[in-house]
Amino acid sequence: MRLKDKVAIITGASRGLGKAIAESFAREGALIAVCSRTNEIFTVADQIKTTCSSCYAGKLDVANYNEVKEFVEAVHKKFGRIDILVNNAAILGERTNIADYPIDVWEKVININLNGVFYFSHEVVKYMMTQGNGSIIMVSSSVGRKGRARWGAYAVSKFGVEGLVQVLADELKDTGIRVNSVNPGPLATKMRKQAYPNEDQSKLKKPEEIVDIFIYLASDESNGITGMQFDAQDFKLNEIKK
Ligand SMILES: NC(=O)c1ccc[n+]([C@@H]2O[C@H](COP(=O)([O-])OP(=O)(O)OC[C@H]3O[C@@H](n4cnc5c(N)ncnc54)[C@H](OP(=O)(O)O)[C@@H]3O)[C@@H](O)[C@H]2O)c1
Repeated sequence: MRLKDKVAIITGASRGLGKAIAESFAREGALIAVCSRTNEIFTVADQIKTTCSSCYAGKLDVANYNEVKEFVEAVHKKFGRIDILVNNAAILGERTNIADYPIDVWEKVININLNGVFYFSHEVVKYMMTQGNGSIIMVSSSVGRKGRARWGAYAVSKFGVEGLVQVLADELKDTGIRVNSVNPGPLATKMRKQAYPNEDQSKLKKPEEIVDIFIYLASDESNGITGMQFDAQDFKLNEIKK
């Protein structure tokens, strides 16, 4: 029970990595709050409730600031604190050259993958500052650390997220709040299928196989670790403990 009674928000938890993180945090004793744009989030929340004492769910678009603010306030009202934020929700956009990239898709990707992460961090950090502790975990990508052709707004949004980690971690360095990013690596999910339609997903890791790094960063074991970039598929807790 490494997260016993900690209150954790996980965005984009209706499937894929977000769902696996929420389920693993629940097994570790956390009180869970999840969101996504579809009703599927309520089904996931009902499943999670069978393994933990509480799971609050909200149907919202992370790109809508008012919806984010309302959700974070409701979570704080329900649980009285917020210890962990995992900014996981994202969309892929189009795999095309910058010259051909549709303007509306570019704006949508940046609004969800970058502005949404800012909105959640902006709202949650106020509560964490009052508490004097907390952990914010950004889900990044390899193309958010080294740009590659035809990853367009997705790659640029993840570079923005990595920048937000650095700015926020520096601002919060004396507060007990830590901010880190995790590149999950290739995972068998809907987003990956969209990016690589012809790939055999049975050869990829499943999201539930790479949750260790998220549990570590959410738990008190990572106190003092901030402003860092992690790669989920290279993470070994034993090496960190040495
Ligand atoms: N899969 C990979 O190989 C891979 C590799 C590197 C990084 N990542 C990163 O890992 C994270 C999870 O990806 P995934 O592969 O699990 O993707 P996924 O299967 O497509 O899941 C994305 C989740 O985000 C939610 N979401 C999307 N837009 C949203 C919005 N505007 N508001 C609220 N929720 C929203 C989706 O729910 P609804 O559709 O119900 O809203 C869904 O729950 C992302 O940040 C992604 O960039 C994934």
